[in-house]
This record gives sequence, structure tokens and C-alpha cells, in this order.
Amino acid sequence: MLHRVKIVEVGPRDGLQNEKALLSTELKVELIERLVGAGLRDVEAGSFVSPKWVPQMASTPDVLTSPTLSRLRSLHSSLSLPVLVPNARGLSSLLSLLDAHPSDPPLTNELAVFVSATEGFSRANLNTSVSSSLDALPPLIEQAQARGLRVRAYVSVVLGCPFEGRVEPEQPAAVAKRLLDMGAYEVSLGDTIGVGVPGAWERLVNECERQGVPVSKLAAHCHDTYGTAVSSVLHCVSTLGIRTIDSSIAALGGCPYSPGATGNVATEDVVYALAHEGWATSALPDPDEARGERWDGLLGWDSTSGEQGVRETR
Ligand code: HMG
Ligand code: MG
Repeated sequence: MLHRVKIVEVGPRDGLQNEKALLSTELKVELIERLVGAGLRDVEAGSFVSPKWVPQMASTPDVLTSPTLSRLRSLHSSLSLPVLVPNARGLSSLLSLLDAHPSDPPLTNELAVFVSATEGFSRANLNTSVSSSLDALPPLIEQAQARGLRVRAYVSVVLGCPFEGRVEPEQPAAVAKRLLDMGAYEVSLGDTIGVGVPGAWERLVNECERQGVPVSKLAAHCHDTYGTAVSSVLHCVSTLGIRTIDSSIAALGGCPYSPGATGNVATEDVVYALAHEGWATSALPDPDEARGERWDGLLGWDSTSGEQGVRETR
């Protein structure tokens, strides 16, 4: 049996949202094009949040409607370009964009909502309480699904909070369960401030399972403040059974509402570590394609020999 890990590349959204200098639409589109060229098929493309708070993401509609992305969507039927949506206003902007640019495949087939595990971070990031943000989501998710959009959900600050310190697993697990019950197809556990270590991830995933969230519905979203994220990713995959990992090319990133937190775990490090541990990743979709030299950058060795280091079974 093939054991494959799905990589969700969050660089163009999580990676760039904190950059002070505004990047051009062309540059963002080129980044996405190169990520897709490197084999990634799940690339978070932007967000429909307030431009007052996150000006870098204001060009998301231009990115999604660019001719290059249209070409990529036609070329790769499995390509998914999710966007972050914080509230009804964001969903309404996204749906208006989809209406104004009908296409097959559509501009995007997926959105992600986000909820905090702590009150302090919820106030800073979403300007509301945890329970209010949860209460607002069912109609939003219903409306999105009625329009054929898949809904992913993030829980932020699952291990540590910039305002409240260490986070015990009960609260993030309870939020994850609520999100799953509302219809999210997957819940990504966000270690927003990058304090995670393998043991903390294990306690959290165990608690999620105890509260009725199966590991097959979980993704790990590690930031990497203390250099422990790759070991956490390996533990999440090899020991805990998580099969979706969020990462950001070149470890770009940081949350504007999380002072001091660094970027996400680097995609190239995750792909390298998983490949060398014998895991296939969605960044290496086809063993024949994987023999081409374009994979070398991600794998870190000469794969032209056909030696990919990816086991079909384990
Ligand atoms: P609000 O409650 O309306 O209040 O928005 P506000 O005062 O923050 O609103 C500011 C202005 O934005 C108002 O306009 C709103 O109408 C408008 P004004 O009256 O000043 O002219 N507005 C919007 N504009 C466009 N699109 C929208 C929208 N909503 C309101 N969707 C809200 C609350 C949360 C929407 C706002 O504060 C916001 O957008 N914040 C940014 C949140 C964000 O992007 N955070 C970073 C992403 S989450 C993350 O990085 C974590 C993650 O990676 C996982 C992890 O690592 O844990 C996912
Ligand atoms: Mg993040």
C-alpha cells in the first residue's frame, strides 16, 4: 500500500501575509506558478480578509483571476487553490468574484475558515470571542458548500498562545470537534507561535481522538520558532498517523497577530525529511515525473538516476 502525505503549501498566504513591503500580483502569481511547477497541488493562494488589517492579501482577487492561474487550473485537474475566509463579508466577496468570473474549473474550489483555541488570540486575530466566531460559522459553511466549495478549518494557537501562554489540549480539541461537526472536511491544527515539540503534538492528537476527531481528519500546521517543527512533522506522520502537513516554501511566514512568531516549517525541509524517511508526498505525485531533474531542489539529491528514496510500502 502506498503511504502518501499531502502537503498543503501555505507560502503565498501565510508566508506572505506578514511581509511589510507590498508584493506585486505578478510576483505572487509567479510564486504560485513555480510552486505548482515543483509538483505542489494544494497551494493556498490568498485570503479575503480586511485589507485594513492585512494589506498584503488585498490583491487576492487579482491573483485568482490572473491568466497564469487559469492556465495552471486547466493543465492540472488536481490543482486546488484554497483561500482564507474569516467571515460572511469575506465569503460574499469570494462568491461575487466567482460569479463575475465563471470558469471550468472554477477560480477556486475550496476555502478555509479559522478559529482560535484561546480568547486572547481570538480577540486579536478575529476581533471576537471563540464562541461567537464558532457560532457565526455554520451558515457560512452551509452557503459555501451549497456553492460547491469544500471547507477546511484551522484551529489556531493549539499548543501555545502569545497572550495566554501554554495551551492545554482540551480546548483546541473541542474547537476541532465543533468545526468537524459543522462540515469542515479537515481540521488543520495550527501551532501559530511555533512552540510545538513531538510530545505536545502527541498529547493534542490523542485528546482530539478522545473527543471524537479521527486522526484521518487532522492536518498539522507547524510554525518553527524553536527549530523543532521538522521533528514534530515526522512524529505527526510516522507515529501519530497524520497524513496532511501544511508548510511554506523557504519557511516564509508569521502571523500578524502573533508577535515574535516566525515562519511556517519549510516545505523543502518537510519534503526532504519525509522522503528520506520513506514517505511519498504529494509534492512527488508521479514516480516517472519524479525522475526528472526538476525534483532535485525539493529532494536535495540527484534523482536523475531514478533513485527517489520513496518506498511504495512500509
Ligand atoms: P470586523 O469584525 O469587521 O472588524 O473584522 P474590524 O474593525 O477588524 O473591520 C475592519 C474593516 O474591515 C471594516 O471596514 C470592515 O467592514 C472590514 P471599515 O468599516 O473600517 O471600512 N472587513 C472586511 N473587509 C474585507 N474583507 C473582509 C472584511 N471583514 C471586515 N472579510 C476581521 C474582523 C477578522 C474580518 C478582520 O479583523 C480581519 O480581516 N482580520 C485579519 C485576520 C487575518 O487575516 N489573520 C491572519 C490569518 S490567520 C493565521 O494566519 C493563522 C493560520 O495560519 C493558522 C495558524 O498558524 O494558526 C490560519
Ligand atoms: Mg499559520
